[in-house]
Amino acid sequence: MKTVIVHSPGTVANLVCGFDILGLALKEPYDIMKLRMLDTPEVIIRNRDEFNLPTEPHKNVAGVVLLSIMEKINEGIGFEIEIKKHIKPGSGIGSSAASAAGAAVAANHLLGNIFSNDDLVQFAMNGEKLASGVKHADNIAPCIFGGVSLIRCIHPLDIVSISSPELFVTVVHPQIEVRTSDARQILRQQILLKDAIRQWGNIAGLVTGFLKNDLDLIGRSLEDVIIEPVRSILIPGFDEVKTKCKEAGALGGGISGSGPSVFMLSKDEAIAKAVESVMKDVYTKIGIDFNTYVTTINKKGVEVVKGE
Ligand code: HSE
Repeated sequence: MKTVIVHSPGTVANLVCGFDILGLALKEPYDIMKLRMLDTPEVIIRNRDEFNLPTEPHKNVAGVVLLSIMEKINEGIGFEIEIKKHIKPGSGIGSSAASAAGAAVAANHLLGNIFSNDDLVQFAMNGEKLASGVKHADNIAPCIFGGVSLIRCIHPLDIVSISSPELFVTVVHPQIEVRTSDARQILRQQILLKDAIRQWGNIAGLVTGFLKNDLDLIGRSLEDVIIEPVRSILIPGFDEVKTKCKEAGALGGGISGSGPSVFMLSKDEAIAKAVESVMKDVYTKIGIDFNTYVTTINKKGVEVVKGE
């Protein structure tokens, strides 16, 4: 029987100003998934973690992705998948995308890599639709491609990989759950032209900053005048964390995806660790449990670590 093991990384979507169009992959944390091909057209899901996610294929993010691949190839085969998640669902660091993208890459490996990365993004977006009610690729694309991704458009799909400096990423995950679907529902449907102008200036500045290794420009562009003012009210301590992390030397940062995690970019590990202790201090003082990560940008995306 053919099997494959993949590591599927967490991701930071939006990158502050680029709601639904920018994201980056993290070295850590990552989910571990083992996929086996079956000669019957069914999907069997086995959870190897404590999160009790649904095991009915139609209700499971990885399950719907595998079903969509089976429907496309229509060859009577199926899959058994074991999932050990390290990325907590509802954390804001791309938990559902890691399940969806990991399943798509693993299935493609077992099928002899018949699909392109763009095809895999399309399959994996079915998982995002199940998780958040909407197809968006700003977690999926960096999870599959690695590095920083710009999703210029999803209809038709147009993904651009952006080179970036070797930055450090500090993430704090306060242990409250924010569902992406809820965090999307509270957003305003209309914005002012002056806010749009400021936002697209920041997006262009951020992308240019990545491409030119201009850290000051990256820092100045990590500003969100549209989404953050609304969503930050869901995250206790957000303003204090942001201000104090910048005082500790972070280039900048903000809400990771739809939250509640908050991320900061830093130019070196010493600053990234100083930022981590600021985050710990704030949440210890507030009295909310938390996890932190100090990591770097993952340039590879989902990685096949063992395949037969
Ligand atoms: N762009 C999405 C959102 C990412 O902010 O709703 C969700 O992780």
